[in-house]
Amino acid sequence: MPEVIYLNGALVSPSEAVVPVDDRGFLFGDAVYEVIRSYRGRLWCFGRHMRRLAQSLAAIDMSYVDVDGIGEAILETYRASELPDALIYLQVTRGVAPRAHHYSRGMKPTVLITVRDMTPGAASVDPNGMTAITAPDLRWRRCDIKTTNLLANILAKTRAHDEGAYEAILVHPDGYVTEGSSTSVFWARGGTLATIPLGPEILPSISRGIVIEIAQDEGLPLVEEHIPLEQFRRADEIFLASTTPEVCPIITLDGAPVANGNAGPITRRLQNAFRARVEAGDDAVRN
Ligand code: PDD
Repeated sequence: MPEVIYLNGALVSPSEAVVPVDDRGFLFGDAVYEVIRSYRGRLWCFGRHMRRLAQSLAAIDMSYVDVDGIGEAILETYRASELPDALIYLQVTRGVAPRAHHYSRGMKPTVLITVRDMTPGAASVDPNGMTAITAPDLRWRRCDIKTTNLLANILAKTRAHDEGAYEAILVHPDGYVTEGSSTSVFWARGGTLATIPLGPEILPSISRGIVIEIAQDEGLPLVEEHIPLEQFRRADEIFLASTTPEVCPIITLDGAPVANGNAGPITRRLQNAFRARVEAGDDAVRN
C-alpha cells in the first residue's frame, strides 16, 4: 500500500480510498496521469510535470481543471509522507457519471495522489545495463497524451518480462523505433546521440528533455531521427530514459548483444551527468 493517499480533497486511509464504479477512469480509462520522483525531500522537475499535465488535460478536453490546485495537493500529500525519496503518482479522471461513451464538459474530476517510498538504487534496474526486446507498437495515434489507457504498453511490457527482459522497445508499423513501453529510447552511432523527434508517436518525456539538455550543454552531437529497426540493431549504444530507471543502458536486444554488450561511453557520460543534476537538484530548463 502507498504510504499516503489523497483522494478528492482529503488525505484518506487505504480503506477510504475508493472510487465509485461509475468513475470514467475505471470504465473507459478516461484519465491522465503523472509519475514524479522526489530526491532528498525535493520534487524533481515538478514544474515540467505540471506543464505536461496541463497539456494532457487540454488534449482530452479538460482544460477547465485547476492544475495549480492539483499542484498544491501534490505538495501537501508529499509533505505529509515525510519521505525524502519517493515516487508520487497522480491520476485525474473525468469524474463519475452513468456509463455513456460521450461525456459532459465540466464534470467534477476525480483526483488521486499516492506517495510511496522510492530509495534511489532500490529500483530493480542494474545501472550497468538491462535487456530489451522489440515489439510492434500497437498504440493509438496520440501517444503524446499521458493517459492511463495503457493496454498496448502493458501487454508489450509483460511480453518483455515473460521473455526475461526489462523493456519492450516499440516499433511503429512503418518500421522505425518509437519508444519503450514505459521509457524513452536513445541510441548512439559514430559518436552522435539520437532519438525520435517529439510528436504524436511518443510521450514528451521529462527525462528525454533532461538528457537532450545535458547533451546540448556538453556539446554532444545530437540528431532527432526516425531509425529503421535494422539500423537500430546496429547502433553502437542504446539506452532508455524515464523517471523511474533514469538513464538505463540496454546491453542486449532481442537476445543479441548491443555492440560489445557493455554500456557505452556516451551512455555512461549521460548517466553520470543525469545523476549529477539530480544530486544538485538542478532541474532548471535550459534554452
Ligand atoms: N512512464 N514513454 C512512455 C510511454 C512512458 O510511459 C514514460 C514514463 C516515458 C518516460 O517519461 P518521463 O521521463 O516523463 O518519466 C516515456 C512512467 C514513469 C510510468 O508510466 O510509470
